[in-house]
Amino acid sequence: MLIWVIHGPNLNLLGSREPSIYGAATLADIDRELIALGEADGVRVETFQSNHEGALVDHIQHAPAAEVGFIVINPAAYTHTSVAIRDALAAVAVPFIEVHLSNVHKREPFRHRSFLSDLAVGVIAGLGAGGYRMALQHGIETLKR
Ligand code: DQA
Repeated sequence: MLIWVIHGPNLNLLGSREPSIYGAATLADIDRELIALGEADGVRVETFQSNHEGALVDHIQHAPAAEVGFIVINPAAYTHTSVAIRDALAAVAVPFIEVHLSNVHKREPFRHRSFLSDLAVGVIAGLGAGGYRMALQHGIETLKR
């Protein structure tokens, strides 16, 4: 059983990037915790981050060949702009949860729109790194069902 966690642009800067909005945890901290959570449940968790839309699309396209059963994705700014990432997720048809560290609905109006939410199993926003944990937990339960 394999779950992919995918992070979009600027999330490589977590820890130093606007910590009052995104928290103090680094991406490495978050990834380490998610991998350990998976291990404890016998599920392999692989993480990927890119600042490039095409690289994210390429990665998502490989999900079926890699036999990925569930995806947790924080598309970051591409949430609000990317038809290409939406189309890639629709094409591979792997169930996914959309995660945002911040509550995008409390923020600028341009962050209120998502190109992905209507395809997602669910959306978690505003719970910080805990949102990734909850999304992963749901993915694990889905795969074990
Ligand atoms: C984000 C919210 C997006 O609006 C923003 O562009 C990000 C991070 C979040 O996790 O809160 O880069 O996805």
